[in-house]
Amino acid sequence: MKKLPEITTERLLLRAAKTSDAEAIAEWISDRKLYEFWSAKPLPLELNPLDFFADENNLREIDTLDWFIYHKADKKVIGEVEFFDIEDDYQTELSYRISTKYQGSGYAAEAVKAAVKAVYKHTKINRIQTHIDVRNIKSENLIKKIGFRYEGTIRQLKFYDTISDFRLYSFLRTDND
Ligand SMILES: CC(C)(COP(=O)(O)OP(=O)(O)OC[C@H]1O[C@@H](n2cnc3c(N)ncnc32)[C@H](O)[C@@H]1OP(=O)(O)O)[C@@H](O)C(=O)NCCC(=O)NCCS
Repeated sequence: MKKLPEITTERLLLRAAKTSDAEAIAEWISDRKLYEFWSAKPLPLELNPLDFFADENNLREIDTLDWFIYHKADKKVIGEVEFFDIEDDYQTELSYRISTKYQGSGYAAEAVKAAVKAVYKHTKINRIQTHIDVRNIKSENLIKKIGFRYEGTIRQLKFYDTISDFRLYSFLRTDND
């Protein structure tokens, strides 16, 4: 996919980040509550969002599909849905996060569902998977709600910077038909 397509849902617009989003993203991306079960250590973007977004070059990430979630009514970016570890255009890992202020309103589910559909529409990817820390109840609720299938629990896995038990969920291209 050359350019990330924009996706419109009832309440949201999913699109690439712009340097002008920096302040809105800085409101939530460093919030420690979002990292409780995130697995990976914070990246430069997450530690210093204003510096990161000041440089256009940092926004030209080519090996992930990284949609930022723009709230149409409030006119600001409130979260992110990312597909990374894209292997041979065949499979990818999914992650998502939403500002704590906007949790509990179905925004994450609305965004993730639309992004999954878009991946199957615009790429050849056949398998989307996500590892969910067994303690991350909100994330597991979300992923079940949008139709991902439970495949098993991987015990004491080291996933990025975390060792925990992880539930593996997937959504195949055929699940999308
Ligand atoms: C995981 C995460 C994105 C889930 O966010 P969320 O807001 O709970 O998820 P949803 O969008 O599915 O919203 C569900 C809630 O909205 C409620 N809701 C309210 N209005 C709704 C609507 N119109 N449509 C759907 N749900 C609605 C649901 O009842 C549900 O509430 P409940 O959890 O009290 O039952 C969020 O907790 C997060 O960002 N966590 C930190 C990062 C993280 O761990 N990411 C996952 C890594 S695997």
